[in-house]
Amino acid sequence: MILKNKVFIITGATSGMGKSIALQFAKEGAILVINGRNNERGNEVLEILLGNNKKALFVQGDVGKPAINEKLVKCALETFGRLDGIIANAGILGLGKITDISINDWQHTFDTNFNSFFYLSKFAIPHIIKQKGVIIANASIAAFKNFPNHPAYCASKAAMVSLVKQMALDYGPNIRVNAICPGPVDTPLIWDSAKAFDQPREAVNAVKESTPLRRLGSPEDIAELAVFLASEKSSWMTGSAITIDGGIMVSH
Ligand SMILES: NC(=O)c1ccc[n+]([C@@H]2O[C@H](COP(=O)([O-])OP(=O)(O)OC[C@H]3O[C@@H](n4cnc5c(N)ncnc54)[C@H](O)[C@@H]3O)[C@@H](O)[C@H]2O)c1
Repeated sequence: MILKNKVFIITGATSGMGKSIALQFAKEGAILVINGRNNERGNEVLEILLGNNKKALFVQGDVGKPAINEKLVKCALETFGRLDGIIANAGILGLGKITDISINDWQHTFDTNFNSFFYLSKFAIPHIIKQKGVIIANASIAAFKNFPNHPAYCASKAAMVSLVKQMALDYGPNIRVNAICPGPVDTPLIWDSAKAFDQPREAVNAVKESTPLRRLGSPEDIAELAVFLASEKSSWMTGSAITIDGGIMVSH
C-alpha cells in the first residue's frame, strides 16, 4: 500500500478517470475527499469506498467557483487532519470555434478546467507543504496539440501545464507538481466529443486505429500513473507533463 493513510482531494471523481483514480488510490491505502457535481453519482462512489472499509468523504459542488475549493480543503483538514495532495481532474470540453462559442461557455470552460486548478492549489498548498506532498493535474495531450473546434479546451489544458511547471518551480523542494496528459480514454467525455461527428462510433474507431497501440486508454491506465505520481516511487519527478496516449502523439 504505497499511499497508506495519506489524504488526497480528487475533483471530478464521480465518473471516468476521476472515479478510477479514487478507487485505485483507496486500494493503495489513501484516505479521500472526492468531489463531483452529481450527488447521486458521488454517493455511489462513496458507498463503494466505504463498503471496502476505506475512509472517504464526498463533497458535492462546482469547482469552477472558489468557495467549493476552499471547502474541499477545509473538509479534508477537519475530518482527516492533514492533506497530502490534490488531483485536479474535473474537466469539460467546451466545444466550438472562437466565433461560435459564447463568452459564457468560454468562461465556464476556463473556470472548470483551469481556474479551478488555481483555486484548489491556492487553498491546498499551505497544508500540502507540511506533508511534502504532491499536486497532480489531469491535463491532456490537447495541451500540446490542437483539435478542430476545441479552442477553449486546448487553451485551458495548455494553461494547466504551464501552471504545473510554475508551481514546481515555486514550491520545490516541498511539493512535487506534475501533469498527466492523456490521449483518448474511454470515458463519457470522449463519447461527448465524438457527438460532433456524423458517425460518432466510427470517429472513435478511426482514432483507435490510428493509434500505435490500437486501443483507447482505460481509466485504469491513467489511475496507475496517478498512483505512481502521488507516491514516493516518483520522488525525483516534478514539473513534468507526461503523455499517456497509446503513442498517438508520435503517429499524428
Ligand atoms: N477522456 C479523454 O479522452 C480525456 C483525454 C485527456 C484528458 N481528459 C481529461 O480528464 C479529466 C477527466 O475526464 P474524463 O474523461 O474522465 O470524463 P468524465 O466526463 O467522465 O469526467 C469528468 C468529471 O468532471 C466532473 N466535473 C465537470 N465539471 C465539474 C465542475 N464544474 N465541478 C466539479 N466536477 C466537475 C464531471 O462531473 C465528471 O465527474 C478531464 O479533465 C478531461 O479533460 C480526458
